[in-house]
Amino acid sequence: MAIIALANLKGGVGKSTLAVNIAGAFAPKVALVDADPQATATAWAEDGNLPFPVIEAPLTGEDVQAWIETVLAIEAAQIVIDLPPMLGNATAAALAICDLAVVPVSPSGADLRATNRAIELIAEARDQRHDGKPRALIVPSKVDRRTAAGAEIEAVLHDYGELVAPVISQRIAHVDAFTAGRWIGDYAKGSAAHVEIRTLASVIKKLAEKG
Ligand SMILES: Nc1ncnc2c1ncn2[C@@H]1O[C@H](COP(=O)(O)OP(=O)(O)OP(=O)(O)O)[C@@H](O)[C@H]1O
Ligand SMILES: [Mg+2]
Repeated sequence: MAIIALANLKGGVGKSTLAVNIAGAFAPKVALVDADPQATATAWAEDGNLPFPVIEAPLTGEDVQAWIETVLAIEAAQIVIDLPPMLGNATAAALAICDLAVVPVSPSGADLRATNRAIELIAEARDQRHDGKPRALIVPSKVDRRTAAGAEIEAVLHDYGELVAPVISQRIAHVDAFTAGRWIGDYAKGSAAHVEIRTLASVIKKLAEKG
């Protein structure tokens, strides 16, 4: 079993969008854990059009151990955890058990600052565990190459010293897929948005399953 957590302390960078679409690419042997009290992924699944289960499991109180046990008891080849945009018990617990932390970053100065802290948290979690995990993968997210920040985002992200994934562009299809309650491979199969997700999913799968 591979556990993949979508984490960033910055809101609106595409955590939930990537969590749902990565799970869509992994389906059907995947489960998505919605650890965000905003319940974006849970709402996405509401109409029953996602090809995988979404388990609503916010961790707002103190019962970290029970939450970890709930997640570890899920039977799936991959577990994708969508986290809230804040430093809290859910983020700490997910970083303690995941194989791979996926950190979406959109090209703006404010996002980069919050990302610094997220990368530090992942490094701290890795120091506390003695298995070299979690690995980290930074994903340039909602990228618009017409902007200066979007044109040079990879160069900036490589400075964090962690792996950087191929970009996920800003595309209207991602917004509309949410509205339709579908993942991108169902809503716009074969589209550029879907191809980017498929590429990202295969990178994530390899990293999460590697030793
Ligand atoms: N690649 C993309 N292209 C266009 N729009 C996107 C893309 N990714 C996300 N969005 C849009 O950006 C907004 C925020 O995305 P999302 O909810 O996935 O971010 P988040 O990091 O989970 O936010 P939060 O921190 O509030 O949980 C949504 O309206 C979503 O549809
Ligand atoms: Mg979200």
